[in-house]
Amino acid sequence: MARHLITSAIPYINGIKHLGNLVGSQLPADLYARYQRGRGNEVLFLCATDEHGTPAELAAAKAGKPVADYCAEMHTVQAEIARGFRLSFDHFGRSSSPQNHKLTQHFAGRLAEAGLIREVSETQIYSKADGRFLPDRYIEGTCPNCGFESARGDQCDNCTKQLDPVDLINPRSTISGSTDLEQRATKHLYLRQSEMRQQLQDWIDSKADWPILTTSIAKKWLNDGDGLQDRGITRDLDWGIPVKKGDQDWPGMEGKVFYVWFDAPIEYIACGAEWARAQGLDDSAWERWWRTDKGAEDVTYTQFMGKDNVPFHTLSFPATILGSGEPWKLVDYIKSFNYLNYDGGQFSTSRGRGVFMDQALAILPADYWRWWLLSHAPESSDAEFTWENFQASVNKDLADVLGNFVSRITKFCRSKFGETVPAGGEIGPQETALIDALTTRLRAYETFMDEMEVRKSAQELRAIWVLGNEYLQSAAPWVTIKEDADRAAMQTRLGLNLIRLYAVLSAPFIPDASAAMLGAMQAQDATWPEGDLGAWLTALPAGHAFTVPEVLFTKITDEQREEWQTRFAGIRT
Ligand code: 2FM
Ligand code: ZN
Repeated sequence: MARHLITSAIPYINGIKHLGNLVGSQLPADLYARYQRGRGNEVLFLCATDEHGTPAELAAAKAGKPVADYCAEMHTVQAEIARGFRLSFDHFGRSSSPQNHKLTQHFAGRLAEAGLIREVSETQIYSKADGRFLPDRYIEGTCPNCGFESARGDQCDNCTKQLDPVDLINPRSTISGSTDLEQRATKHLYLRQSEMRQQLQDWIDSKADWPILTTSIAKKWLNDGDGLQDRGITRDLDWGIPVKKGDQDWPGMEGKVFYVWFDAPIEYIACGAEWARAQGLDDSAWERWWRTDKGAEDVTYTQFMGKDNVPFHTLSFPATILGSGEPWKLVDYIKSFNYLNYDGGQFSTSRGRGVFMDQALAILPADYWRWWLLSHAPESSDAEFTWENFQASVNKDLADVLGNFVSRITKFCRSKFGETVPAGGEIGPQETALIDALTTRLRAYETFMDEMEVRKSAQELRAIWVLGNEYLQSAAPWVTIKEDADRAAMQTRLGLNLIRLYAVLSAPFIPDASAAMLGAMQAQDATWPEGDLGAWLTALPAGHAFTVPEVLFTKITDEQREEWQTRFAGIRT
């Protein structure tokens, strides 16, 4: 039994994610986790909310709540939506957990001992009224370029010019509105990534099997020089993990916290510790996944993320791990994704454009979305969601091909033989040919799933459904039964066993429909078809009881499509 550690990029806490976010990390990670479990492997699948940083503070302020309360509430909301999409995390943690505080401070301490951290003095804007340094986004003023009065410290939203807060005319604090601002000296910690350039280069060069999207981004940052500049890992914020060296205070760093991108990936590890605690297990339970000196040497670790996250996972986080000099598990494979666009433009969180995860679940069951998103995953290039395409895909693939197959064979059996698998007959050349074709496609499906070729896997799965439909169409037990009842019984028996096959193979993509199919077939055993498929397809024997399932998939009407298209084009309120 192989052991798979799987993590999805951890979503920011501020707000509900859209379908583009979902398909770029959490959903394909879930597909892979479900598949590996289905193959009988041991899986630890972790995700969490990314709770620190300015955006979390700003969102909490906007909601009029203390940031800790806001994060706790939003974590519950995101966890609930994740359950709705059937994301099968073993644990959905929080980057603000005590476990992450401890580990982040631990890593910083180790990096300091290794001489990989230096202190840098900078000047930054300080607000006397607020008693704190202000990050760029907390400063507003008049744009020196276009005169817009609410330009932010980092950028003018009106003319898009990149700004430095000191450029603003009449700068003021967005917290208090105070204009009593001054420049003050402050100290920050920098991670000396540049020292580790060769080590990172060698590590990335050793990953010949990684997707081009992943390695091209990593190499661009390595070679442009920019990505491996030393990186500030502290901030003057209240909310975050206090800067400490292990459990020791860090002189000069009082009141500062670690930068969100320093602590977020460490949460992958901390989440393992949170999981163990939630399960009532001791530290050895998570360390056997994360420490190569404590059992993780045979673990395969795969990360899933959107392309914008790649530099942090190929350079910064590995720098933290390697720099610690401790035997932490490094990632073995990084599966990254391009962007999903929405109906002729981009998804936009700020403008509420596109479909957000809660809205999606409010109009249709999770499987419909899972199927469309995964079968159109933005792998080799950006992809686009359109309502026409979504409607066509659901109606054809799910309703016409899979749903129709299940409904036809179960209803036919009920009407001619009753709700038990019928006895009689032996398979002939037509069935042998079908089983051969299914076997070829099944092995291709496994290969694509092993390689995380998401779209190709979906195509192969669909082709497996189509084979069953074509067989049913040409075997036509409703015709056969007129001359040869035994043969019709055999055809029907095979058809019913195919439903069980579809349930098992489709579970990673459409888990609810899969459960409904297994339930209807009253199949206790859902183990993967390893070995001889012909024999596997006799597992539901003559005399086995089943029920005709409810309609698995309802078609999307043109009226629904038009209504949703209008509803989601506008501003989310
Ligand atoms: O892009 C994002 O949503 C980030 N919150 C991802 C963080 S992944 C990791 F570093 F933990
Ligand atoms: Zn401007």
